[in-house]
Amino acid sequence: MTDFKDKVAFITGGGSGAGFGQAQIFSEAGCKVVIADIRQDHLDQAMEHFKKMNADVHPILLDVTDRKAYIAAADEVEKVYGTPPQILIQTAGVNAFGPAEASTYEDYDWIVGVNLGGIINGMVTFVPRMIKAGLGGHIVAVASLGGLGPCVTTAPYSCSKAAVINLMETYYEALKPYGIGVTCFCPGNMNTNIHEASMTRPERLKNTGYYESPEALEGYRKHNVLGMDIREVGRQVMKGVEQGVVICIPYDDREEILRGEMQRMIDYCTPEGMERLAEQEKQQRLPAATPKEEMESLREASKVGWAKAKADLDWVDESRKFIK
Ligand code: NAI
Repeated sequence: MTDFKDKVAFITGGGSGAGFGQAQIFSEAGCKVVIADIRQDHLDQAMEHFKKMNADVHPILLDVTDRKAYIAAADEVEKVYGTPPQILIQTAGVNAFGPAEASTYEDYDWIVGVNLGGIINGMVTFVPRMIKAGLGGHIVAVASLGGLGPCVTTAPYSCSKAAVINLMETYYEALKPYGIGVTCFCPGNMNTNIHEASMTRPERLKNTGYYESPEALEGYRKHNVLGMDIREVGRQVMKGVEQGVVICIPYDDREEILRGEMQRMIDYCTPEGMERLAEQEKQQRLPAATPKEEMESLREASKVGWAKAKADLDWVDESRKFIK
C-alpha cells in the first residue's frame, strides 16, 4: 500500500509512544485515524495535539483484552467513518522486567494477555470486517526484537512477542488472497512511556514476582529516552507498509540481526553447536542491535533494582543475573 489518502487507520496504543508517533505520520499522510487506548489521559494528550493540527482523528477508550469492548469499538469506527479500517496497526503493549524464575501466573496473564491476547482480539474482530468490506488493506502488529530470541528478564514479554511474529506470518499467508498485507514491526529501544506500563495493570493481576520500585522504573525511563524517536517509529512503520515486508526491523543491520538469531537456533540443534554457544560469552542476552550506550543505561538501572526479583523470593540468585 502506498496511497494513504482518506484511508481509515485504527491504531491501538495510539495515545502514547510508538502508537502516537504512528498516528501522527499516518494522519499527516492523509488517513482518518482512530486512536484506541486504555488510558484516557493518553488519549486526551494525543487529541490535544491532533486538534491543534486540525487532523481527522477519533479517540476510543479501549482495553484490547476486553472482547466485547473491542467489538463495540469496531462498530464505532464503522459508524463514524462508514467502513471498517483499511489499515489496522496493533501497537498497544506492556512490559515488566524481572527474572524468568520469579515470574508469577499474574505476570504471564497480564503481559501475554495484552501483547498476544490483545492482538488476537484485534485480528478476530477486524479481519472478517476488512475482508467483507472488500477494500483490501494492511495490518501491522508491533512485536519487538525481543521476540526474536530469549531474554532472561522478560520471559512473558519475549514469548508473547515471539508468538506475535509467528501469528503475523501466518496471517500474511492467509490474507494474501484478499489483498490484505501484513507486517510485523520488530523494533529495539524506543523513546516512549513504556516504563509506565504497570499503571494499567488490572487489580486482579497485580501479584508480581518482580521488583518495581519508582527508582527502578526511573532507571528504565532513562534507558527509554535513548531509544528511537516516535515520529521516526511512525515513518519506519509506514515504510514497512509501503514496501509490503512481512518482518520490519527498522535498522540497517536487520539481516545480520536475524542471521545471528537463526544461527543460535541452528547451534541449539547439535552438540557441536551447543559447544560453540558455550564458548561464546553469553552474559549478554539482549538483542544484538542494542548499542553500547543503551547497555550501559541498563546496567545503571539494574544497580537501583531494575529487572530484579522481589526480595522475598528466596530461590532467585541475583548474583547469577546477566546484567551485573
Ligand atoms: P507506551 O506505553 O508509550 O505506549 C503503549 C500504549 O498502549 C499506552 O498508551 C498504553 O496506555 C496503551 N495500552 C497498554 N495496555 C493497553 C490495553 N490493554 N489496551 C489498550 N491500550 C493499552 O509504550 P510503547 O513503547 O510505545 O509501546 C508500544 C509497543 O511497542 C508495545 O507493543 C511494546 O511492547 C512495543 N515495543 C516497545 C519498545 C520500547 O523500547 N519502548 C521496544 C520494542 C517494542
